[in-house]
Amino acid sequence: MSDLTAAWGRLTDAAAKAGARRIASLFDAEPGRLDRLTVEAAGLELELSKQPWSLADLDVCLDLAKAAQVEAARARFFAGEPVNSSEHRAALHMALRAPKGSNFKADGGPVSAAVDAMRDRMAAFANAIRSGALKGATGKPFRKLVHIGIGGSDFGPRLVWEALRPLDAAIEVRFVANVDPAELAFALHGLDPAETLVVVVSKTFTTQETMTNAKAARDWLRAALGKAADSHLVAVSSALKETAAFGAPDDQVFGFGDWVGGRYSVWSPVGLSCVIGLGPEVFERLLAGAAAMDAHFQAAPLAANAPVLLALAHVFNRNGLGRPVRAVVPYAQRLHLLPNFLQQLEMESNGKQVTKDGKPAPHHTAQAVFGDAGTNVQHAFFQLMHQGTDIIPTDFIAVREASEGDPAAQTILLSNVIAQAEALMVGKPESQVRKELAEKGVAAAEIETLAPQRTFPGNRPSAFILLDRLDPERLGSLLALYEHKTFVEGVLWEINSFDQWGVELGKSLATKVLGELQGGPAGAHDPSTARLIGKLRG
Ligand code: F6P
Repeated sequence: MSDLTAAWGRLTDAAAKAGARRIASLFDAEPGRLDRLTVEAAGLELELSKQPWSLADLDVCLDLAKAAQVEAARARFFAGEPVNSSEHRAALHMALRAPKGSNFKADGGPVSAAVDAMRDRMAAFANAIRSGALKGATGKPFRKLVHIGIGGSDFGPRLVWEALRPLDAAIEVRFVANVDPAELAFALHGLDPAETLVVVVSKTFTTQETMTNAKAARDWLRAALGKAADSHLVAVSSALKETAAFGAPDDQVFGFGDWVGGRYSVWSPVGLSCVIGLGPEVFERLLAGAAAMDAHFQAAPLAANAPVLLALAHVFNRNGLGRPVRAVVPYAQRLHLLPNFLQQLEMESNGKQVTKDGKPAPHHTAQAVFGDAGTNVQHAFFQLMHQGTDIIPTDFIAVREASEGDPAAQTILLSNVIAQAEALMVGKPESQVRKELAEKGVAAAEIETLAPQRTFPGNRPSAFILLDRLDPERLGSLLALYEHKTFVEGVLWEINSFDQWGVELGKSLATKVLGELQGGPAGAHDPSTARLIGKLRG
């Protein structure tokens, strides 16, 4: 039996015992628990004491990380080796946010000088837009920006903008991802083409949704401004052959290397709309925060390494305790898009059924992730979280200081996140419920039916991530934390976290169905699909 197989076996054994134990009981049994399971990293505090593992279980998990050679994998990752083995590419988003003058290499070729030059170019372009030095076709300054992109060309920039945008933005940024024409219609509604910049972001520049929306937005500009409208177009891509035909002026085309994965690309020119909307200084601070997490991930020992510990906590639940779903609940309205971002990051990266060698995956892989902003979710799915028949671990993210608004409301928000994490873990035993009902004078027969319904089983785990404030550095650090925890999970599961073959079948079938909806000859389909095509074709 290999060391790795043995380490997985020990994790399974440890988890079987953990499942039968109360998390809350571990605080008395393990006096050092809180300290050992609280880590400061790059401006964030990660607390994992409300997880089902004991400190001995944590050691078992750390042994698994060692047996899986996480440190060696991390070294290959940072060295720019082709860790995306099915596409023979590096995945080197860390190079995009490294301090200027760094020396990253992707597949042996230097990239840092080009990255630094592109950062300067983006900053200069953004400053020219922001200052009004660069004007639209009619001489008006650009005051609105429509960002068109989907998946990794949307989630990151949209999240960063929502998280950091000022109340009164000098440049309003709107996002369009869906090919549903309603989204573009809403985004363009009320805008003056003469002061609108359209930034089209697509790594491949072939994505159906993005190209459809980009052409429609270009038509909207041209209808108002004629051919001069093309000076309102910006293209961001790693496929510069594809961008040429689009019409954006050459000095408004921003490229990036194919070693930047779509869902890891917010740090690249994919984030250009944020550079323009928030200003280059803010964007540089975002990069610096992510770079600080990179440095922590590289240097901290496994036992005090935030991405490693978060990955192990999630794996202990996912693989040890058979919990395939996880909630992510940011108690910060500005972070309400974090669950969407993490859905792509984690589920597109690690939603795999085979190893990187093409063998059946030996373990279950990515958890399904869902969530939304607290406190809203308390009025949506938290009934199930507290009393449903499944245990769904939660990541809570809280921010100490409000970005704006009434500090008293912020205190209420914080009281809720603390209380929810406590309630999930501690619960409320039936004996206490019975006592309280009896004290209220409820009849004995009613107590029999009511008490079980008002009992909270507790023992539901959570991770707690605390930010002192939601500034650009801490946001960068938070996103990089999740990126690296996703990487560590991929190493433990022996999968390639950087490809996404599973999105291809639907795309090619949609092309075929589109031809039929547009009146082309009927193709071979199952009866259900054929019926739908028949019903919806024009
Ligand atoms: O969802 C599939 C996907 O390929 C993602 O990986 C990617 O982020 C998204 O489509 C958009 O791709 P592109 O940036 O090439 O338009």
